[in-house]
Amino acid sequence: MDELKKYLEDFTKEISQAKSLDELNRVKGKYVGRKGLLNRLFQQLAQLSPEERKNTGRKLNQLKQTMESMVKERMQQMQSSRTKIENAVDITLPGKKQWLGSYHPLLIMLDQIIAIFKSLGFRVETGPEIETEHYNFEALNMPEDHPARDEQDSFYLDSGYLLRTHTSPGQIRALQRLTPPFKVIIPGKCYRRDAFDASHSPVFHQVEGLVVADSISMGDLKGTIEVFVRRLFGPERKVRFRPSYFPFTEPSAEVDISCGICGGKGCQSCGYSGWLEIMGSGLVHPNVFRNAGCDPDKLRGFAFGMGVERIALLVFGIPDIRWFFENDIQFLDQFRIFR
Ligand code: DAH
Repeated sequence: MDELKKYLEDFTKEISQAKSLDELNRVKGKYVGRKGLLNRLFQQLAQLSPEERKNTGRKLNQLKQTMESMVKERMQQMQSSRTKIENAVDITLPGKKQWLGSYHPLLIMLDQIIAIFKSLGFRVETGPEIETEHYNFEALNMPEDHPARDEQDSFYLDSGYLLRTHTSPGQIRALQRLTPPFKVIIPGKCYRRDAFDASHSPVFHQVEGLVVADSISMGDLKGTIEVFVRRLFGPERKVRFRPSYFPFTEPSAEVDISCGICGGKGCQSCGYSGWLEIMGSGLVHPNVFRNAGCDPDKLRGFAFGMGVERIALLVFGIPDIRWFFENDIQFLDQFRIFR
C-alpha cells in the first residue's frame, strides 16, 4: 500500500510538471500504459493469497482510474490555456506594412532601351568585362599610340588584359560569332579611371548597337536612331547628327537630341545650345570588318554606342550621376512606381 501511495505522489508531481501533450502522454504511458508500472503490479497479483488479491486488486483498479482521470484533467487544462493564447491575438488589427523593394533606375533604363531595340528586331548579345587590349583597342582600329590607350585612362590588369573601357569590343565578338545579316545590341558595364563627379563615374553602363548586312547606309542609321529617340524621349524631340570622329567608324557622327527642358531654345541644362548629346555612331570602318575576319568589300554596317547613366539622368531629371551608386533608400524608393 505504501508503494501505491508513493506511485501516486510521483505521478502527481510528474504530470503537473509536464509542459506539453507529448510529455503528458509519456508520463501516462510510464504509469498506466500497457507496459506501465501499474500493469506490472497487476501481474504480481497472482502471487498473493485470494483474500489479499481481491483487496489489492481493487486498490490497483482505483489507482488506475484516478490516474487516468488526472491525465484527462491535465490535458483539458493544457488545451484551454492554448486557446487562451490564441484568443489573445487580435486578428482584426491591421497588419504590419511590408517594405517593397524597387528596381534600380539604371536597370529600369536598360530594360526600356533593350525593349525598344528588341521591338525593332535587334537581339541582345553580351561580352566579357575583362577584355584583351586586342578586342578593346586594336581590333577597333585604335593603334598602340592612340591617346585613349593611356595607362592613366584605363584599369589595366595582368599583361594584355584590362577592364573594358567601352562595349565596342562586343562588335568584334558579334562579327566573329554571328553570320550577317544581323542586328544586335550589347549592353554592359564599362570602366574608366575617372574620378567621381556629377557627370563621371569609374564604372558606368553602355549599350552598343551593331547592324550588319550587304548594304547599309547612313539613312538606315538615322532612321533607327530617330525611332529610338522618339520612343524613349517622346515624339516632339528633334534629332541631329553632328559630324565627328571615332577610329572604328567612317563616317562618324554624334547624335544630339533637342533639350527637353527649354525645347531647344537654350537653357542652363543644355549649356544654352538647345541640344544634348546622347551617343556616338557611324558606319563600320572597313578595318573593323577586316580585323574581325570579315570581307569589307562584301559587308556594310552601322554602329552606335550610348551611355546609360547619361540617358537616365535626362529621362528622370536627375542632376548627379553619383546618386545612382550611393544606394540611398530615399532616392531609390522613388522608382517604386516602375515595379
Ligand atoms: N565606344 C565609344 C565610346 O565609348 C562610343 C561609340 C561611338 C560607339 C561610335 C560606337 C560608335 O559604336 O559607332 O565613347
